[in-house]
Amino acid sequence: MKTEASNTYSRRFFIKSSSAFTTLAFIPNSVKSFFYQVKEKFFVKKQKIPLSVSINNKEYRLDVDTRTTLLDLLRENIGLTGTKKGCDHGQCGACTVHIDGERRLSCLTLTAMIPGKEITTIEGLAKDGKLHPMQEAFIENDGFQCGYCTPGQIMSAVACVQEGHTGSTEEIKEFMSGNLCRCAAYNGITRAIQKVAP
Ligand code: FES
Ligand code: FES
Repeated sequence: MKTEASNTYSRRFFIKSSSAFTTLAFIPNSVKSFFYQVKEKFFVKKQKIPLSVSINNKEYRLDVDTRTTLLDLLRENIGLTGTKKGCDHGQCGACTVHIDGERRLSCLTLTAMIPGKEITTIEGLAKDGKLHPMQEAFIENDGFQCGYCTPGQIMSAVACVQEGHTGSTEEIKEFMSGNLCRCAAYNGITRAIQKVAP
């Protein structure tokens, strides 16, 4: 049922919108054209560049918008959808990949930054049809439930072992703290890393 307040809001909204459109119609063309000139000068135009990138030891040549993130390049342009988009703002870790062997958030990496570097995604971990030991350890130790965060967790977990941050449970948890899991599979993830750690 509509309340008095929502009716008032709707009327107000209608009146305000109508006024705004009426005002817009009376803005002189010279002012509008000045606005468009300023916009063209200060806002970067969409522009495609030829790009050559190496992903999972395979070379790709593409024409991409210079503003594309590595995450969108992987998922939308190349079709490697194993890397997940969670927050798209560098806060959840779902998009973690390796660049030259180091973990990076692909949602915060522009494609312009990656030519000449080797990108590894979750699809590149298995070798000759055999899962990476960390992937096997995640399965054996219940390191996931829904699985959405899992590719990012595994990429971070591999980096955790490679970079030698497995000295204690606390050290592992600290290193993995940028990878969030809404299913709270943290204990299984930690166990999996401890299983693979030397
Ligand atoms: S999607 Fe990149 S950190 Fe969340
Ligand atoms: S397994 Fe569901 S979000 Fe981590």
